[in-house]
Amino acid sequence: MSVHSEIKKVTTNTLQKLKNKGEKISMITAYDFSFAKLFDQSGIDVILVGDSASNVMAGHETTLPITLDQMIYHASSVIRGINRCLVVVDLPFGSYQSNSEIALASAIRIMKETGAHAIKLEGGEEVVESIKRIVSAGIPVMGHLGLTPQSIYKFGTYSVRAKEELEANKLRSDAQLLQDVGCFAIVLEKIPAALAKEVSESLDVPTIGIGAGMHCDGQVLVMHDMLGINTEFKPRFLRKYLNMAEQVTTAVQQYIKDVKSLDFPNEQEQY
Ligand code: KIV
Repeated sequence: MSVHSEIKKVTTNTLQKLKNKGEKISMITAYDFSFAKLFDQSGIDVILVGDSASNVMAGHETTLPITLDQMIYHASSVIRGINRCLVVVDLPFGSYQSNSEIALASAIRIMKETGAHAIKLEGGEEVVESIKRIVSAGIPVMGHLGLTPQSIYKFGTYSVRAKEELEANKLRSDAQLLQDVGCFAIVLEKIPAALAKEVSESLDVPTIGIGAGMHCDGQVLVMHDMLGINTEFKPRFLRKYLNMAEQVTTAVQQYIKDVKSLDFPNEQEQY
């Protein structure tokens, strides 16, 4: 029997057990009650209330504009839909970079006001003091290295990170540092598969990859990408499990036709 099917509630310890047993961790983003409920009932291990909400929910070009209040709104909606999975919430840009006191205050607001189980933040060495402070307050922290979208204006592009040795070495040491200061898991985004394999094997805590190949201890995808809601985003790493944009368009076009032609509502569909 797999660890996955035995567990009633997924905790950070469960993720460690999954890694120790060699069973991969499944993670998906969600931002609202209804999808969170469906994903939880489907058996997902982790829901990430990602700051990608800034893109897919609010229509911004980057993740930078979303606020802590908006993340709290999305996270509380998600929490009301779940029963079993672990819910991790992104600390948005500007809510933790200034200093560790501000970072802790933001993390506390997320935990207190949403009922979520953990927070995620981006970066390595630069955010270590904040991570230490948050962890020592009893809040589980997930790290995030590689392509960190809150730094998009520093990178200038969404292309693969850490291809050069200098950046790869920083990622290796950042990953170790994040583990040492108590992160329970680390997201590795858009880095070479060989580097992700090396880091995943060198760490005790699980890695969760997005565009980081098959050797990570788990995988995460943004729901709008994998369900085919967002049709313009077609990176190599993305597998589409549904063509929801097409299905929704077809359904709504049929509804419009039925209303216009007086087919809907019929005798049985009225009081
Ligand atoms: O915000 C997000 O959706 C994320 C994932 C891409 C890991 O951070």
